[in-house]
Amino acid sequence: MRLLVTGAAGFIGTNYVRHVLAHHPDDRITAYDKLTYAGNPDNLKGLDADPRFSFVQGDICDAGLLEAVLPGHDAVVNFAAESHVDRSILQAGEFVRTNVLGTNTILDVARRLEIPRFLHVSTDETYGSIPSGSFRESDALTPSSPYSASKAGADLLAHAYWVTFRCPVVVTRSSNNFGPYQFPEKMIPLFITNILEDKPVPVYGDGLNVRDWIYVEDNCAALDLVLREGAPGSIYNIGAGDELTNLELTRRVLRLLGKPESLISHVTDRPGHDRRYSVDTTKVRALGWRPRWTFDAALAATVEWYRAHRGWWEPLRAGSARVIEQDLETPDAD
Ligand code: NAD
Ligand code: TYD
Repeated sequence: MRLLVTGAAGFIGTNYVRHVLAHHPDDRITAYDKLTYAGNPDNLKGLDADPRFSFVQGDICDAGLLEAVLPGHDAVVNFAAESHVDRSILQAGEFVRTNVLGTNTILDVARRLEIPRFLHVSTDETYGSIPSGSFRESDALTPSSPYSASKAGADLLAHAYWVTFRCPVVVTRSSNNFGPYQFPEKMIPLFITNILEDKPVPVYGDGLNVRDWIYVEDNCAALDLVLREGAPGSIYNIGAGDELTNLELTRRVLRLLGKPESLISHVTDRPGHDRRYSVDTTKVRALGWRPRWTFDAALAATVEWYRAHRGWWEPLRAGSARVIEQDLETPDAD
C-alpha cells in the first residue's frame, strides 16, 4: 500500500510511520505535515535514508498542494490536528481551522481523487465525560472543550463523507496515548520532564479526574489494523482499559523516578475539565487486536525514553514556553 500520513511529524504520527515501515516491508509512506510547534522534523530523523519514505511540508487546509501530492496513494491516514486541550482554551481558532476545515479539505480532495481508503483519527474526548460505564461507538458525541468539539466536528464530517458520498472512510476514537516523542506539554511527558528537572508537577484541581491510558505502540497497531481490516463507514474505539486518576498516575511516575510526593502541586482546575473518559473496545477487539503492553511496563519504558532523550525534549520545553508567552500576548481573533 502507498499511504499518505498527515501529522506524521507529531507524536502518534511518527510512531505510526515507524510501525508501518517495520511491519509492512512493501508499503510506501508520504509523510505530510505543516510542522507547527508540535511537528518536529527530528522525530522522523533516520527515515530519510529509507527509499520507502518521503516527506512533504504542507497544510491539510491546502487543497491545491493535496491535489498535487495525493494522486497514486491507496490510503490517507489523517492524524494532523491541533491536539492540546489547554491551548484550545486559550485560542480555539486554529483548532477549528485545522481540525474541522482541514479535515473537510482533505476528505474532499480524497473523494474527488477516489482514494480507496481514508482513516480519520478521532478521539474518545469527542464523547465527553462519563461518570460510570464505557462509551460505545453508537453513543452521542457531547464534547466539552474547544479541542474535543473541533475533533467532534471532524469526526462527524468524516462519517458524513461515507453516508453521503460512499467514501470508504473509517474513524477511530482512541483514548489517551503516552510513549516516546510526545510533546512535553501533555501530562505524562510534562510531569516526567519536570521531575527530571526537580520541578513541581501541576495537578489540576483535586487530581481525581480519570483517563483511560494506552501505550502509543498498542494504539498504532490498532490503527493499522482498522486501516486494513475495518469496515468502510465504521467507527472503532481504541483503548487498553487502564483507567487511573491523575493523582495515582502522578504517584507512579514519582515512584519510578525515585522522587518524593512533595513535588505534587495542586493548581487551579482546567475550565470544563472532563471528569472521566472510558471506552468500550469490543469492536476493535473483534478485529483481532489486543494491547501487548501492561500499563506499568509501558510507563517504565516511557520514563526511560525521556531519561535517555534529554537532547530531544530540552529544546522543546524552552521553545514551548516561548510559544505560550507569545500566544497569551496575541488574543484570538476568531
Ligand atoms: P501532535 O500535536 O503531537 O501532532 C500533530 C501533528 O499535526 C504535528 O506534527 C503538526 O505539525 C501537524 N499539524 C498540525 N496542523 C496541521 C495542518 N494544518 N496541516 C498539516 N499538519 C498539521 O498530536 P498527537 O498527539 O500525535 O495526535 C495525533 C492525532 O491523534 C490527532 O488528530 C489527535 O486528535 C488524535 N488523538 C490523540 C490522542 C493522544 O492522546 N495524543 C488520543 C486520541 C486521538
Ligand atoms: P492531557 O495530557 O492534557 O490530555 P487530555 O486533556 O487530552 O486528557 O491531560 C491529561 C490529564 O491530566 C487531564 O485530566 C488534565 C490533567 N493535567 C494536569 O493535571 N496537569 C497538567 O499540567 C496537564 C497538562 C494535564
